[in-house]
Amino acid sequence: MKILVLNGPNLASLGRRQVEIYGKATLADIETAIRQRAQQLRCEVECVQSNHEGELIDQLERLGPGCDGVIVNPGALTHTSLALYDALLGCGKPVVEVHLSNLYKREEFRHRSVTAPAAVGVIMGLGPAGYLLALDYLAGQKS
Ligand code: DQA
Repeated sequence: MKILVLNGPNLASLGRRQVEIYGKATLADIETAIRQRAQQLRCEVECVQSNHEGELIDQLERLGPGCDGVIVNPGALTHTSLALYDALLGCGKPVVEVHLSNLYKREEFRHRSVTAPAAVGVIMGLGPAGYLLALDYLAGQKS
């Protein structure tokens, strides 16, 4: 089983960016934790981050067919990107959307996710643990 982990704009700045909201863990810390959990679950992960909408879609097109599921944190594209929504829907794989912060505790423009309807579920507000919970879920979907 192989899971694609996609992180969108500004997530490479985790650990420095608004630490009061996103915490001190860097993206490298989060990806290390994901890889460790994946090893325990005996699944493979491919981690991709890009600040560019088209690049995320290109990577999804390229890597999606070889994957059994997708974990995505689209960053601010969550609230704007119909193109990413279409790509997630079109990949035909189970998608779990993850947000480090609880979007409902934040500005109103963050309350709407245009990408979430492409996901089987959304995990938010639990920090980096959300990625691990998403991985547990997807790894349990196929044996
Ligand atoms: C985020 C929430 C988004 O609103 C924001 O633009 C991000 C991070 C989160 O993980 O909480 O970049 O997706």
